[in-house]
Amino acid sequence: MSNKLEVFFKPKSIAVVGASKESQKIGHAALKNILISDYQCDLYPINPHEKTILGVPCYKKLTDVKNDIDLVLISVPAKLVPSIMHDCVKKKVKNIIIISSGFSEIGNHKLEDEIKDIIKGKNIRVLGPNTMGYKNAADGLDASFVFGTPRKGTLSLISQSGALGIGMIYLANNEFVGVSKIIGVGNKLDITDDDLIDYFRDDPDTNVIGLYIEAVKNGRAFMNSIKACDKPVLVVKAGRSSAGARATSSHTGSMAGSDNIYSAAIKQAGGIRCRDVSELFDMARALEGQPPLRGNRIGIITNGGGLGILLTDACEANGLSVPKLSKKTADKIDKIIPDLVNANNPADLVADAGFFRYESATKIMLEDPDIDGIIVASVHGGYARPREFTGAILKMVREQRLHEAHNKPILGTWVGGKEFEDLVFDLKSLIQKNFASFCPQIIHLP
Ligand code: ACO
Repeated sequence: MSNKLEVFFKPKSIAVVGASKESQKIGHAALKNILISDYQCDLYPINPHEKTILGVPCYKKLTDVKNDIDLVLISVPAKLVPSIMHDCVKKKVKNIIIISSGFSEIGNHKLEDEIKDIIKGKNIRVLGPNTMGYKNAADGLDASFVFGTPRKGTLSLISQSGALGIGMIYLANNEFVGVSKIIGVGNKLDITDDDLIDYFRDDPDTNVIGLYIEAVKNGRAFMNSIKACDKPVLVVKAGRSSAGARATSSHTGSMAGSDNIYSAAIKQAGGIRCRDVSELFDMARALEGQPPLRGNRIGIITNGGGLGILLTDACEANGLSVPKLSKKTADKIDKIIPDLVNANNPADLVADAGFFRYESATKIMLEDPDIDGIIVASVHGGYARPREFTGAILKMVREQRLHEAHNKPILGTWVGGKEFEDLVFDLKSLIQKNFASFCPQIIHLP
């Protein structure tokens, strides 16, 4: 397919077919979202009865527009969609979003097949039908009909469920996870998950790819795209249980398939299966902007022995090792911790550890060639100084980047009550900008 979706995501001109003056209608919301986007493009509302909508001159049909149209959003009842598609072909439109529902998701395969026949061999890309569209936060374009403005970041999300996709925008905002693009793929008539993974692989604005899927169209293509992608691909696959699989079939008309096969295929292709959306965000935050682990040896730094042991167990249970420290590293750490403890891995910096101990211990572990990645943890313990803890990590991450030294991932985590959470929450926006990775509740025992 030579249409590589570049123009699809960065159109210079957009038409909305089914644009309406009625503020309750989806065609109104879609037009408004584009209009208020921080994005420069020509905009053409299409409606047979109106002269202007939202102050923009309106056309009776697509073919009345003289200029080229890069992208068309269709928001008319399903039965009218084929005739609009024929107009798109006449107008040589190459990128189309069919928002309309009423296709294979309700068993109307005939109508969906009709659309497939219309675009066959014409190098036209279609998103949907039954989709919310997309939000391209990286470039400021909202080509969807739904509310919600993602914070700009480097996670690109692909969702088979429109509503869940919208929920993910709000959750991402709340969690200070920045999004590059979010796409509702709907019935995946043409543009599928693998097309989007291929696009995001080469997209300079995407560092991590996250998917919510109920079923994939072509398992081999899906695996090949994940395999070919050198960016982390995180997958939430729904329909694990038999009741969940039944719900999948009535939601998007797709077959959930064998859960074990999905797990094995995702793993074999090099993707990471996440239990749920929260875990996807945790992982995205950990992987965004961090160098990948080059080995499995983890250094753990804490201010509480119990937290250190839990983290050690969690690492070991997940295929990572927490090796004993070399004498050289242990001697260096011994110099910065109180006499009442000995240097170890996990390294206990003692409950009252502040900026200096955290910064020094992180630096020492970064310099140790026998450590591949570092987890820096803090537990409230009645003494915690979250700003000093986060400040030390931010400093080390910045220095690593500045000097391109060590190239090891640093993950921050904590256990504490509201007082602690509030402060770390404040710092999350800062952290996002600085590409450190902070994950609450990192201790996921299998
Ligand atoms: N060309 C251009 N405009 C046309 C044409 C045409 N050939 N024919 C009709 N129109 C106009 C209509 O006159 C109307 O404008 P008006 O308000 O000025 O009269 C406008 O297009 C819309 O047509 P309606 O018949 O009013 O349709 P309505 O807006 O009620 O519904 C819709 C259309 C939204 C596509 C509906 O059929 C539908 O599919 N809704 C579900 C969409 C959805 O949920 N998609 C999945 C999203 S994912 C998620 O869950 C978030």
